[in-house]
Amino acid sequence: MTAPRVTPFTRHAGVTLPVVCGPMYPCSNPELVGAVSAAGGLGIFQPIALTFVHRHDFTAGVRLMRGLAGGRPIGMNALIEASSRRYHERMVAWVHEALELGVRFFLTSLGNPRWVVDVVHRAGGVVYHDATELKWARKGAEGGVDGIVAVNRRAGGHAGSRTAEALLEELAPVGLPVVCAGGLSTATDVVRALELGYAGVQLGTRFIATDECTAHPRYKQALVDADEDDVVLTERLTGIPVAVLNTPYIQQMGLTAGPLARWLLRERRTRHWMRALYGVRTAVALRASHGRGDASRDYWQAGRSVAGIDRILPVAELMRTYAAALQDHATPAIADPTPSTSPS
Ligand SMILES: Cc1cc2nc3c(=O)[nH]c(=O)nc-3n(C[C@H](O)[C@H](O)[C@H](O)COP(=O)(O)O)c2cc1C
Repeated sequence: MTAPRVTPFTRHAGVTLPVVCGPMYPCSNPELVGAVSAAGGLGIFQPIALTFVHRHDFTAGVRLMRGLAGGRPIGMNALIEASSRRYHERMVAWVHEALELGVRFFLTSLGNPRWVVDVVHRAGGVVYHDATELKWARKGAEGGVDGIVAVNRRAGGHAGSRTAEALLEELAPVGLPVVCAGGLSTATDVVRALELGYAGVQLGTRFIATDECTAHPRYKQALVDADEDDVVLTERLTGIPVAVLNTPYIQQMGLTAGPLARWLLRERRTRHWMRALYGVRTAVALRASHGRGDASRDYWQAGRSVAGIDRILPVAELMRTYAAALQDHATPAIADPTPSTSPS
């Protein structure tokens, strides 16, 4: 078997390598996103991290990333769950503004992506949608998306429940290009995912342990030191399972939401109060761990991909390892009915 370097995803995104740096709240700083795109992959920024955590004005931040990327494409994560009207209006404005600034790749998470697809397609761009199972991929396809990012059980952030192999098979009926997210860090992992039939790979945790990521040095070192057994899922931070390193802070907090929290999350009228409470707790933990490096509040999100992280590297060097491995296995011709788009 061979791993293709040109895939339906690279054509959609207008990139030379089928490697994505997934959006990460709070870790997607502009320098990281720009460096991945400059190296031939696709850096996807997270607008809330850009403006709220890294304190950039949206327009200036997007211009900065586009500059760092040397004019190569970058992508934007549009979280489309309509949690409040104000939030929705802000996301709509950001999507329009990003399009005006030349962004042509969008990754939608949660909710119905139809409104994003409508505006992005009018501008000649593409939309991929996060899915952990067939039900969500179908919703994305009904909303008109061009591809799926398949989040498996080894992923950092909100992990799925399927293996990479099972998920690819499950999503086949949708008939769209599928990018593998979760558990990948080494060049061997990347090649293997493409050999399985994925159109690209999306990595998160591996990119935190790079020079360009501005995460706290203790966080990066923890990723280098950790093994995959150190990753646990906790519901205590957002109400839904998040993959984190099993630090003393996480152990002290516990992994499962209590019965009252579960009840409050189930009820429509109380759900947003519970989420707001979780939001405050997460913000406090983030400020302590990411900002001050407070060891008593180590809150380090990570996927099982930590298993393959043995060094903190510059992004360009890491990307060269992926490019070299794919070069070794390059196949020139791939059957792809999708017309190429060329994001500016
Ligand atoms: C710290 C962290 C924060 C994340 N935040 C987001 C996010 O805001 N939106 C999103 O769609 N995915 C988010 N993810 C998921 C990543 O984009 C990516 O799919 C995932 O990290 C892949 O798994 P890996 O970490 O094993 O490489 C996050 C992941 C991590 C590790």
